[in-house]
Amino acid sequence: MSKKILILPGDGIGPEIVNEAVKVLHCLRDDFGLEVELTDGLVGGAAYDAHGHPLPEQTVALARASDAVLLGAVGGAKWEPLPIAVRPEKGLLGLRAELGLFANLRPAILYPQLASASTLRPEVVSGLDILIVRELTGGIYFGQPRGVETLDSGERRGFNTLVYTESEIERILRVAFDSAMRRDKRVCSVDKANVLECTELWREVAMRVGQDYPEVELSHMYVDNAAMQLVRAPKQFDVMVTTNMFGDILSDCAAMLTGSIGMLPSASLNASGQGMYEPIHGSAPDIAGKGVANPLATILSTSMMLRYSLNAAEQAERVDAAVSTVLEQGLRTADIAADGDRRVGTAEMGDAVVAALRAGL
Ligand code: NAD
Ligand code: IPM
Ligand code: MN
Repeated sequence: MSKKILILPGDGIGPEIVNEAVKVLHCLRDDFGLEVELTDGLVGGAAYDAHGHPLPEQTVALARASDAVLLGAVGGAKWEPLPIAVRPEKGLLGLRAELGLFANLRPAILYPQLASASTLRPEVVSGLDILIVRELTGGIYFGQPRGVETLDSGERRGFNTLVYTESEIERILRVAFDSAMRRDKRVCSVDKANVLECTELWREVAMRVGQDYPEVELSHMYVDNAAMQLVRAPKQFDVMVTTNMFGDILSDCAAMLTGSIGMLPSASLNASGQGMYEPIHGSAPDIAGKGVANPLATILSTSMMLRYSLNAAEQAERVDAAVSTVLEQGLRTADIAADGDRRVGTAEMGDAVVAALRAGL
């Protein structure tokens, strides 16, 4: 039976990069027998402009009825003056919450062809293959109370709450341990247990869950040290598991190890395997509309979708191989280009991936 994919391009470079991933999906459908039906929807600023809300009811309904969602990016200066409740980012957070997408997988893999694209020395990053498992529907992003209040003195006070229940911690730790069992069997749980009670609980639960995985080596690291270690010696990590906000920050940091934030895909999964797939980067307003954004993170997110939600691992391997091929051919968008590389734009990169797919027929 045909699988349903909801396409949410969003804002800024979102439509440009999603367009290239859609070309890849069309190629798999037309030339490789992938049975998919694509539907377009609105989220973020684009949805606000059309419907006055960043996550219209019909988008939620379409997402629920889909096997997977492919999202570009949301946000931009135009919508920054809006109240937080209707900002584009709320649309994305709302989708994550509505679909219960608590497990965010962000793999940072260095393609050997990009060893010199990283700002770190090639020997520090070559062979890099780490997986950041970020909790996505809890923590300080969603904790109550939150807001800005005016004190009697007339001064304003802003507040957010870091909160996790044991079951929320346990389920994300299980995703991390299960992932580690299919990898190098090492989990590093990142917290701030020396300061925050909530993450002291996190550490305790991590140790308890770890007892169910005797083959996996569990370590703990404070987040400040983890950020430093990621740039000092990133290959010491296999799976890193952490809270919503720490995971947001550490994954941008890890992206740079792979050459560019334009290379890092992600999968956000719920308990029933339904998923949303998006690059980890944002709407890149500084380059939007110029046709220069790197579409590979979005194309690689599509590959994760094939693997995790569409039960099409073989098709995913085709996409991964096609990405390797175009990098091997020396094609580079500006963010990963060095002297001597062939610089291409967003569409040319997408077309090259499709050509590489077809060549593999
Ligand atoms: P950003 O990730 O959009 O951009 C950071 C830098 O990386 C910019 O210089 C940008 O040009 C570059 N970059 C990002 N993606 C790229 C790509 N594919 N190819 C080449 N270069 C790329 O982060 P920001 O500037 O902090 O945020 C911009 C907007 O995006 C904000 O409104 C923010 O809220 C939003 N945002 C959305 C998401 C999302 O939708 N998942 C993620 C992060 C930020
Ligand atoms: C990401 C983004 C989002 C986040 C924003 C846009 C809400 O930075 O997906 O990494 O903080 O989760
Ligand atoms: Mn982020």
